[in-house]
Amino acid sequence: MTPHPPDSIVFGATGFLGRSIVAELLRQGRRVAAAVRGPGDRLTSWLAGQEVSTAGMTVVTCDVTVPGLGLTGLTDLAGVRDVYNAAARFAFGLDVAEARLANVTGAVNVTEWAAARTGLRRLVHVSGYRVSGAEPDYRRLGPYEASKAEGDAAVRRRARELDVPLTIVNPATVIGPGQFIGLASLVHDLWRGRLPVLPGGPGVFVPVVDIGYLARFMAAVPEHEETAGRAYWVLDDDTPELPELVALLASHLGVRAPRRSIPVWLLRRLPRALTGADPETLSFLSDDRYDTAPARAFAGRAGLRMPPVEQALRRWADDLVTARFGAGPPMSPEIPGDGSPASPGSPGNGSPDPAGRTRRPTS
Ligand SMILES: NC(=O)c1ccc[n+]([C@@H]2O[C@H](COP(=O)([O-])OP(=O)(O)OC[C@H]3O[C@@H](n4cnc5c(N)ncnc54)[C@H](OP(=O)(O)O)[C@@H]3O)[C@@H](O)[C@H]2O)c1
Repeated sequence: MTPHPPDSIVFGATGFLGRSIVAELLRQGRRVAAAVRGPGDRLTSWLAGQEVSTAGMTVVTCDVTVPGLGLTGLTDLAGVRDVYNAAARFAFGLDVAEARLANVTGAVNVTEWAAARTGLRRLVHVSGYRVSGAEPDYRRLGPYEASKAEGDAAVRRRARELDVPLTIVNPATVIGPGQFIGLASLVHDLWRGRLPVLPGGPGVFVPVVDIGYLARFMAAVPEHEETAGRAYWVLDDDTPELPELVALLASHLGVRAPRRSIPVWLLRRLPRALTGADPETLSFLSDDRYDTAPARAFAGRAGLRMPPVEQALRRWADDLVTARFGAGPPMSPEIPGDGSPASPGSPGNGSPDPAGRTRRPTS
């Protein structure tokens, strides 16, 4: 038995979202079980880097694909009232069985585990802004997005059957240190001077949300009864449309923004070898808008405010460059005395040098 048993559990605690949710709950003085698949050292050292005390945290191991979740550890989980599910396979190019195992079976297993908690206050499940309520069409959407859509429906259904108080959170592209998928690939191409044309064209809206804000939002959800049984689209409506977003980042990074664009219908018809575009990412290039009113109203009542989006985007771009877009160990913020020439199309100081190092741009 642990002296102060956890009151909340976070599945996927080593992940980009999960670790920030753990950090936010710990900052708020909550006692958190961090459920991880492998060793927990990655999480503890990341939390130490964020100056978050881990005194209220216990690490348990689990595999969400196993019924009962295969939880191990000596921790008493009987006092858990809030269950956060941020465990998933989030990647493009997965095979269907692999994607479904974590994103459908795993999500349902977590729902069933939550249902068995005697003091359950809330299950908070992370879906996604384009998958929640969508048809799980594997051919059109690809394994990641379709399995998330199928998982979303399956979690809602199982929660209804088992009378689980459920809140679904649908973030758009979450930006912050450690986010290297999706929009980050486009920023990487931009940075390397390999974005000759903009995918999508005018009107395309790829919204973002700041990771710190999302973590605060998720931590607040179970504290408010009104959020039970609801789904929230969490994104910044002020995100510039894609051409302006790319122009903003190009100017910040000191590289040239593409002047021309290619429509999505044409990208879909051209061979991938020619466009370099991953077909699974194309459905994100859309001019759809999303109903954020309920999330904004709740955030207002909970006293949550988003940071200005342009500032968050610039900061994320700096983080991406510093972290080499996830390709290697972080570099130091400045490399003094680096006199290497800028590559073509990179008029500023934001270009890779011959040794592959990058210089952090100044804005
Ligand atoms: N990041 C975004 O911009 C974004 C936007 C919208 C929605 N979402 C959704 O948010 C959720 C979290 O995304 P993320 O960006 O945090 O992804 P991530 O960084 O890849 O984290 C996924 C987490 O799930 C864990 N996991 C995977 N399979 C597991 C299993 N079988 N058992 C237990 N844990 C398992 C991973 O553990 P390991 O560390 O051991 O692999 C990792 O901790 C996903 O559902 C994703 O679809 C993300």
